[in-house]
Amino acid sequence: MTVSLLVTNIGELVTWDAERPIVHDAAFVVEGGRIAWFGARADAPTADAQRDVGGAAVIPGFVDSHTHLVFAGDRSAEFEARMTGEPYAAGGIRTTVAATRAATDEQLAANVARHLAEMRSQGTTTVEIKSGYGLTVHDEARSLAVARQFTDETTFLGAHVVPAESDVEEYVDLVTGPMLERCAPYARWIDVFCEDGAFGADEARTVLEAGIAAGLRPRIHANQLGPGPGVQLAVELGAAAADHCTHLTTADVDALAGSATVAGLLPGVEFSTRQPYPDARRLIDAGVTVSLATDCNPGSSYTSSMPFCIAVAVRDMGMSPREALWSATLGGATSLQRDDIGRLTVGAKADYAVLNAPSHVHLAYRPGVPLVLS
Ligand code: NIG
Ligand code: FE
Repeated sequence: MTVSLLVTNIGELVTWDAERPIVHDAAFVVEGGRIAWFGARADAPTADAQRDVGGAAVIPGFVDSHTHLVFAGDRSAEFEARMTGEPYAAGGIRTTVAATRAATDEQLAANVARHLAEMRSQGTTTVEIKSGYGLTVHDEARSLAVARQFTDETTFLGAHVVPAESDVEEYVDLVTGPMLERCAPYARWIDVFCEDGAFGADEARTVLEAGIAAGLRPRIHANQLGPGPGVQLAVELGAAAADHCTHLTTADVDALAGSATVAGLLPGVEFSTRQPYPDARRLIDAGVTVSLATDCNPGSSYTSSMPFCIAVAVRDMGMSPREALWSATLGGATSLQRDDIGRLTVGAKADYAVLNAPSHVHLAYRPGVPLVLS
């Protein structure tokens, strides 16, 4: 028997519906885990149960489209050194690789569960999780098996960095051969860190094309530490997302604007590495689809908070509160090529967050304040 729930007395309901993206004094009905109806509170149908949210704002749950939650260890010393002037370097990844290889599957799963609990309490309802701290066939496969316990949005990132014991050519052969074969059954996505100190354009293309041939969909870490070929490669291969996009040329912005590739901005990285923030305004004005995500990882961005990312994006990246919320919800869903999440329209999953605030603007207006009630 289907039990319906009426959520009512909503001061501001963000749906991202084409005609009614934001409804005031609103209500919606949930049936079978999906949105069955939404509209003005006065027009609400009856339901089996009712929840009165007392005038609060309700938003779609956040879609965190970029995280590295399968890891062990801590790199707070590296962060501390950066805050007194040391630069961030991709090689720090190897510190986490050593700790991750030494951890049991149970320890890795417990660590994912702990971070997911943090995320849920801050309004995140969908999370993508990458491998990339194993870098052996065995450790990448078990990282993805752990991630799969928690989400279907799993990403094979064997090409995160070349491990200390390997050279690049030999390692790309491993990633595109035996490692891909073992990992593909646990993954929906293939990713590569295309950057100086990680993988160049040719290697990144080889990795992504092998993943595509194995049935995975491509996404990429691009243009994080400096200008580079990652964004152009993403567009060329029809990647769902080019994430980071911190250092872009005009040609990069034009290429993104003429494509279906989402530019994934990860403000926690620039916060934690003291790099300049990406220019969201420039991308949006050019017509690029922008997502926001945490990039939660122990090296470059150890935040699990989408509200924090929204606050920074509004304060320092030229986004309006509404644009930032869109990018953190429907933008994330677009990045994951999902049409059932990131919105509260009829038929979508009823993944929502009730805010202890009258409007979504408070997410940026009240930085650092735990506003998500449930
Ligand atoms: O997305 N850029 C590459 N990978 C991570 C950082 C990983 C690390 O420093 O451990 C990122 O920023
Ligand atoms: Fe990342």
